[in-house]
Amino acid sequence: MRQAGRYLPEYRTIRERAGSFLNLCFTPDLAAEVTLQPIRRFPLDAAILFSDILVVPYALGQKVSFNVGEGPQLFPLMNADEIGRLPSQIDLAVLAPVFETVRVVRAALPKEIALLGFCGAPWTLSTYMVAGSGTSDQAPARLLAYREPEVFSKLIDRLIDASIDYLVEQFKAGVDAVQIFDSWAGILPPEEFQRWCVMPAMRIIAGVRALIPGAKIIGFPRGAGTLLSGYADQVAADAIGLDWMIDVQFARVHVQNRCPVQGNLDPLVLVTGGEALDRAVDRVLDAFAAKPFIFNLGHGILPETPIANVERMIARVQSVR
Ligand code: CP3
Repeated sequence: MRQAGRYLPEYRTIRERAGSFLNLCFTPDLAAEVTLQPIRRFPLDAAILFSDILVVPYALGQKVSFNVGEGPQLFPLMNADEIGRLPSQIDLAVLAPVFETVRVVRAALPKEIALLGFCGAPWTLSTYMVAGSGTSDQAPARLLAYREPEVFSKLIDRLIDASIDYLVEQFKAGVDAVQIFDSWAGILPPEEFQRWCVMPAMRIIAGVRALIPGAKIIGFPRGAGTLLSGYADQVAADAIGLDWMIDVQFARVHVQNRCPVQGNLDPLVLVTGGEALDRAVDRVLDAFAAKPFIFNLGHGILPETPIANVERMIARVQSVR
């Protein structure tokens, strides 16, 4: 996830060489290198493309920059006019370096190691596009959605179309599966969750599979809690990502009985290490490993994570499979 790499010295070296974060995302040799770094270091089963969800607003013409210590900054979309001026199609030429990164990585990866592509879900993208930055409660996008649902739905529609085009190109370039990150899904009440998270995920998946039949897609509506059951019912995902907060019993009955799940170790337990880590890994395995399951964290790995803890976690997971 977005913190990825920062816990590795070899990432920090390349990050410095690249200058800006967007330059790293858009320089295929460097982006491919940081995608491959964790695979060289650890016996993992999959690699995730190095990029960011905010390259989509960037390719829709929005100004985006990443300033160290501040998080992303965008030129905020303030009103109906500015949203109306977004192009009807995403400029795939701007994203060409991302597709080239996919090709370079796929060629270098052993074929039994999966390559995951991704995009941000429309709701999560819109929270950054409307506010111009991350906020603690994403109130600007929520207010716009309450005050002017028609305008807001235009923005979501643009992002649905852009996401379909973007994911289809990632598949054509060689990813094996993609994940749709809805990091801010958990802040919405049920009706809005249905309209701004569930419906867009359904449309993106249908749109991608119309062009790439059988495309493998993972949904990750972070923080959705009990709303995950409706998501799992309606969204035809091949797997659903679970954050670390979800009740395990609930997730087993309402999510894993319908589709494979991915998750959900607390990233802070990975920072902690030792026996606390062992016990937490065992709890995840006890909860989910009897049915189709992808072991993963419940959100991004934190920059302060000791590398030895990552090694310990992987060894423990692999000792039981
Ligand atoms: O995991 C990976 O290696 C894949 C690459 C990846 C990044 N971002 C690289 C990145 C992925 C999958 C993302 C997704 C992403 N980006 C999400 C969804 C998942 C999540 O974490 O909730 C979101 C919301 C973003 C937006 C974003 N990008 C934010 C808010 C930030 C600032 C993060 C912070 O804590 O400072 C980023 C920057 C970013 N994206 C970094 C990385 C490695 C750190 C930038 C750096 O190295 O300086």
